[in-house]
Amino acid sequence: MGNKRSKKANRLSKQLKEIEHLISPVAVPVTEEESDFHSEKESYTFFLDPVIATSPQVEDTEIIRYAQEGYGGWTIVSDLEPELRLDLMPVGYQHPVGNQPEQLLHFFAITDIHITDGEFPAHGIYSKCGGGIVSVYSEMMHYTTHVLDGAIHSVNAIHHQNPLDFGLSMGDNTNNAMYNELRWSIDIFDGKEINLDFGINANPRIGPRKDFYDEFMAVGLNQQIPWYQIIGNHDHIWPDKPQKAVSEDPDRRFLSRVEWMKEFFNTETHPIGHGFTDEHLETGFACYSFEPKEGVSIKVIVLDNTQRDDEPNVQGYAHGSLDRSRFDWLVAELEAGQQAGQIMIIAAHIPIGVEYQEPLTRPFMSWSTISPVSEMELIEKLQSYPNLILWVAGHRHRNTITPIISPDPDQPERGFWVVETASLRDYPQNFRVFEILKNADRTISIITKNINPTVKQGSFASIARSYAVAAQQIFNGRTEHLPSGSYNGELRVSITSSMSEK
Ligand SMILES: [Fe+2]
Repeated sequence: MGNKRSKKANRLSKQLKEIEHLISPVAVPVTEEESDFHSEKESYTFFLDPVIATSPQVEDTEIIRYAQEGYGGWTIVSDLEPELRLDLMPVGYQHPVGNQPEQLLHFFAITDIHITDGEFPAHGIYSKCGGGIVSVYSEMMHYTTHVLDGAIHSVNAIHHQNPLDFGLSMGDNTNNAMYNELRWSIDIFDGKEINLDFGINANPRIGPRKDFYDEFMAVGLNQQIPWYQIIGNHDHIWPDKPQKAVSEDPDRRFLSRVEWMKEFFNTETHPIGHGFTDEHLETGFACYSFEPKEGVSIKVIVLDNTQRDDEPNVQGYAHGSLDRSRFDWLVAELEAGQQAGQIMIIAAHIPIGVEYQEPLTRPFMSWSTISPVSEMELIEKLQSYPNLILWVAGHRHRNTITPIISPDPDQPERGFWVVETASLRDYPQNFRVFEILKNADRTISIITKNINPTVKQGSFASIARSYAVAAQQIFNGRTEHLPSGSYNGELRVSITSSMSEK
């Protein structure tokens, strides 16, 4: 068994070595020129071109065959109108006549960037390739810095049109919980020169802009936009042992939870610490709350609901989980927000109350069976706070919108929305913007739109998109589109009459 496994690991290691040197980009099919800055098409999206029926199946590692066999193509679709979702509203709800909504808050949410050290010696591909899970290996992983830079371009362009009050980086900034990967992610937000100078393969082709590891100057997030960080499972847990020897690199090292938080103090964007304070560095507790806009009674509660580092391995470490101390802290925050008459939003890496239809990921990503607080207990508690309107999350690399309906039809305000945002790494490589609007009646509208990173034709970000599309086609992942409302949506939620007056 062991021999068989090591033979497979050797074969995969050889394959990967070939891939690492394969930097000549394949043809990147683009059906429409995309503008450098999203002046007019900020909310366009793109869908997979179907793979021709006669095309043979290719392996995820056969990159040279992607375009040859018809994989990796996409079509841009003009703006998708937000789909109105009234799932939380009482039967017979009537939209108010002459409604002129007032914008209370505007923010962006980026998640699951998975910045990757391409030579990391414990990549999943060395031990698990063929598992049919795109997050184990995708050629796109070499291009993550370019996609994040493109996303920051888009954020800045949106800010120019409709100022953003803040941003959320919702976890899994890194693929392998490493110092070098985290630094690259923060430095891209900060607009520094990015140089993936590691090991021996960092510069396969001499000369600037020849390969995806060459240095480039990141555009940097507009300094007016504060951004806040949430911890993801990939930011502090990597259970695999190295399967491959690579050249030494002092920056290729794991960070403890506290070391990880400390890096957010080494930044040139705001706020210093990006939500974490000296107290967090003393305790290792990664939860906090903030009030993003003066004069607007809204509070954002940032919750670490990843597994503890000392939890036993029950089918991996990607489950949602809460111990009693985090749960008690959350309840105290909700209680204080409710008493203070604040609208509340929870931001956590892992979603709750969502459907798991795919048999492959359910056992690994659903709520932990050994979590001291069960998912049911958590949801029931959340439903007791009428001022909670929204839970935003990343984690599953998926765009979904889920209503958590009030258990009492006479109190619809006890319901709230769970919105998942797709990964910047895997198809469809989106992030989201959220507008919180107050309507003329006792309701709030949450307008959420999926935004694409700015992708210039022929750029590394464009190649990355093609690879992400190909990976999705090869693995035959779910790609739900309208009318599910999983992309752009207007989500209506009730508030109490006292909050409405406030
Ligand atoms: Fe992720």
